[in-house]
Amino acid sequence: MYKRAAMIGVLVISLAGIGLSGCKMAPPPDRQSQLIAKGRDLFFNETFAGNGRTCGTCHPAENNFTIDAAFIATLPKDNPLFVAEFNPALKENFENPALMREFGLIQENLDGFDDLKNKFVMRGVPHVLALRTSVQSPAGPRTGWSGDGAPGDGSLRSFATGAVIQHFTKTLNRVPGVDFRLPTDEELDAMEAFQLSLGRQQDLVLPLRLKGTVPKRGQAIFLDNKLGKCNLCHVNAGATANFGGGTLGNANFNTGVEDLPDQPARLTGKAVPRDDGFRSPGDRTFNVPPLVEAADSGPFFHNNAIETIEGAVAFYDGDSFNNSPAGAALKKADPRGVGIELDGTQIVAIAAFLRVINTLENIRQSIELLEASRAAAASEEKRRNLDRVIRETQDSIRVLEGGGLHPDAVAHLQEARRQTEKAARSVFFSRKHTGEAIREQKAARAFLAE
Ligand code: HEC
Ligand code: HEC
Repeated sequence: MYKRAAMIGVLVISLAGIGLSGCKMAPPPDRQSQLIAKGRDLFFNETFAGNGRTCGTCHPAENNFTIDAAFIATLPKDNPLFVAEFNPALKENFENPALMREFGLIQENLDGFDDLKNKFVMRGVPHVLALRTSVQSPAGPRTGWSGDGAPGDGSLRSFATGAVIQHFTKTLNRVPGVDFRLPTDEELDAMEAFQLSLGRQQDLVLPLRLKGTVPKRGQAIFLDNKLGKCNLCHVNAGATANFGGGTLGNANFNTGVEDLPDQPARLTGKAVPRDDGFRSPGDRTFNVPPLVEAADSGPFFHNNAIETIEGAVAFYDGDSFNNSPAGAALKKADPRGVGIELDGTQIVAIAAFLRVINTLENIRQSIELLEASRAAAASEEKRRNLDRVIRETQDSIRVLEGGGLHPDAVAHLQEARRQTEKAARSVFFSRKHTGEAIREQKAARAFLAE
């Protein structure tokens, strides 16, 4: 008996040896990657002695670090996102479960906790990707949809503290040390480092040499300061503005989103107070979000008012935008006195462009994750990377198919997903399948851009 067990032991060890000899050992992690790893652990696992939520409850990696109604529908009833449904102390004036489930909206008390019944806003959850490119403005850091940050200086660091107070509390008293504990300085550093490591670390340089006829035209309209005018506020499809002859960094504008008629949340008849944006009382401005990450992370705008990327582009052709202060500024600067005027074909072309740059970013991230998974020493890290590649690749497929774009690229992305799934399951051929998956991602990319 003993002998047999020992032999199996030898077999297992030698097989493990074969597995290991096949991969290069990763270098020991440096201080920065240790900090990021600590931040990741806090972000996804730390409840700060609160109601059970973590940052990852609303910013899950498997859903582009955001939540929407479709994702919410997959969660079990006892998921801490739904604390308001099962914790009596949080039943009233904490969340609105109906609006959360139907539209992915979260209740927030940006103007203070003194009148919870009347002073709140309903906002969508932004992804936390590409924060490295989308927080700095000359007037200081701008985080959150209106750039207020959470209480404090608007930095990413103080945002985490604000998020704990807003979303993690056990009761509406919100007493630190009783209802939750506040993050320590070291924890804030680690969570900041982790969040800054997510997604793009720099802006694109447009124009890209796109291959698709319609996306290419969409890019031209996007960049045309006399037609689409998008690049004035979303320079290089990022989150910085260059409006009125100088770079404004991650600026704020009142683009009239709050004036949209028939906003889904309001159609329910539920109380949805007007969101007055930046500062308290607010100046009705909101912060420019990056667009590269947009197409797979809807619904769009701070109030999740629009579900599709085509609809979000079409917003700029409507009265709410053109009669807004930002629309008026564009009219004033235009020799013909028009704000943004687009026709159906042009709206679809811009959306096609946004779909393609989103897919290119998903492919970039997927290749990076696949390469990291090959170098990963820990199988848990490998698994995590491959799982994300599968999600990102599904997004790429969905985003292209949703616009009827690049069926040739979609076929390669489907094969990339299959190879990644095999890599995740396989012990011995994982590297081979990972290599195949990288090749398929690159083949897909070659159909989109030169
Ligand atoms: C209950 C859901 C929920 C939880 C839990 C949550 N967030 Fe958020 N997060 C949101 C919402 C909603 C916003 C938009 C806030 C606003 O506009 O003021 C947001 C915005 C953000 C932003 C701003 C992103 C940008 O582009 O400016 C950051 C950063 C962020 N959250 C980090 C965190 C961290 C760190 C934690 C954990 C300590 C956390 N969040 C927990 C819902 C949540
Ligand atoms: C005057 C500045 C300005 C111009 C011009 C502008 N945007 Fe925006 N954009 C913003 C601001 C500010 C927001 C956030 C508004 C909000 O949520 O209330 C935004 C949000 C968006 C969003 C939603 C992103 C998300 O993650 O929810 C999309 C998509 C978008 N813009 C696309 C465009 C396109 C396409 C154009 C050109 C047709 C354009 N924008 C022109 C300032 C601008």
